Amino acid sequence: MNGNSKWGGNGRFQYQNNQLQCENIPLAALAEEFGTPLYIYSRAAIVENAHAFLAQAPARALVCYAVKANGNPAILRLLADAGLGADVTSGGELFLALHAGFAPEKIIYSGVGKLPHEINAALDAHIRSLHVESGMELALIGEIASQRQQVVPIGVRVNPDIHVETHPYISTGAKQHKFGVSPETAVTLIHTAAQHPWLKPVGIAAHLGSQIQETAPFIASADFLIGLADELTSSGIQLEYVDVGGGLGVQYANDKWEVQSEKIQNWVEVVSEPVQKAGYGLIMEPGRSIIAAAGVLLTQVVYTKPQDAKQFAIVDAGMNDLLRPTLYSAHHEILEVRRTSEVHPTLRYDIVGPICETGDFLAKERPFPFLSPGDLLAVFHAGAYGFAMSSNYNGRLRPAEVLVDDATPHLIRQRQTYDHLLAGTK
Ligand code: LLP
Repeated sequence: MNGNSKWGGNGRFQYQNNQLQCENIPLAALAEEFGTPLYIYSRAAIVENAHAFLAQAPARALVCYAVKANGNPAILRLLADAGLGADVTSGGELFLALHAGFAPEKIIYSGVGKLPHEINAALDAHIRSLHVESGMELALIGEIASQRQQVVPIGVRVNPDIHVETHPYISTGAKQHKFGVSPETAVTLIHTAAQHPWLKPVGIAAHLGSQIQETAPFIASADFLIGLADELTSSGIQLEYVDVGGGLGVQYANDKWEVQSEKIQNWVEVVSEPVQKAGYGLIMEPGRSIIAAAGVLLTQVVYTKPQDAKQFAIVDAGMNDLLRPTLYSAHHEILEVRRTSEVHPTLRYDIVGPICETGDFLAKERPFPFLSPGDLLAVFHAGAYGFAMSSNYNGRLRPAEVLVDDATPHLIRQRQTYDHLLAGTK
């Protein structure tokens, strides 16, 4: 386990005297001050990962952070200030990105179901480009562009039919998936855009899926996009960029934890090489690789109980706070905040929440020492698609979020109150 000293988040979560810390603050002190469940992020880890992308990116590259991974405004501001762009997937995310100060010329908009008001908002903001995912969508954008007499930069999202090793729900680049269009349709759509008085084809994009560990599929995707772009060049349409999407995975299991920034630099180097050689600009859309390891979910044991052959530790965070374990059978490492004794040789706990569903678990069959009410547990790699997928299910309040900067915690989202449960209702 990385010498027992560095724990995820580029080493920003570590034990000091058997107390787990984020940067220079003990997590127990954060629980005391802000309560649990609580999302905690390391500012340094986020910035380091963002810089790792930028450090290795070639000159004409744009790193567009996928806002869906974690759209907290303070985190978005941090990434915008670091020089990143944004990949948005709805009017709401566009609003958040603009609000956080991302330069409009660094914002791209992907998504299969853009609504007219969302397209208009993107045109109002003059973003870098809209990535279209169907002929109908291109036609609608063309109509809106004509009405507004505004030139609209268009990218086409192509489905490269590349299969990847990941959970089926988050694999997106095979032809049976709803995303993108076939290569033939992509070429047709780019030609249609080129002939339209108000549309300007600028790029071609693909996104294979998420939580992909190997680099080979990304290289295959880059080569595929370059091939299409070259084909278009020979028919007289010069595209400005290829967009290889996001999808770089992180290692969730603690025997494989790695220095995230190094992994990122390696990935950028490998992916950008063919694109640069071919003379195109490059867009990347990373989400998880920037923010997953930079965050933990802090929770507290409420009760323990033996049941049948099992031991349950019932904690104060549930599937409404972190959906990934039950939705994708995702493994998140869970560590004690106060390291007390060695794990029990035979004792195994299911770490479960208070929600009325058997699927409400954070982990199953995990070795721990004896757990007691009040014990704090840290669920690792919760920075991406954690808070972002949280809900009010079972009348539960969404947790607070804290951004740690060295020894200073910043409350970047207040815990909801019961008023939130009534907001907008009659
Ligand atoms: N670009 C597009 C068009 C995407 O659809 C996504 C993610 C990304 C970029 C960012 O991918 P990343 O670098 O984060 O892998 N909720 C799931 C992940 C869903 C990903 C959806 N699209 C999870 O918790 O694993």
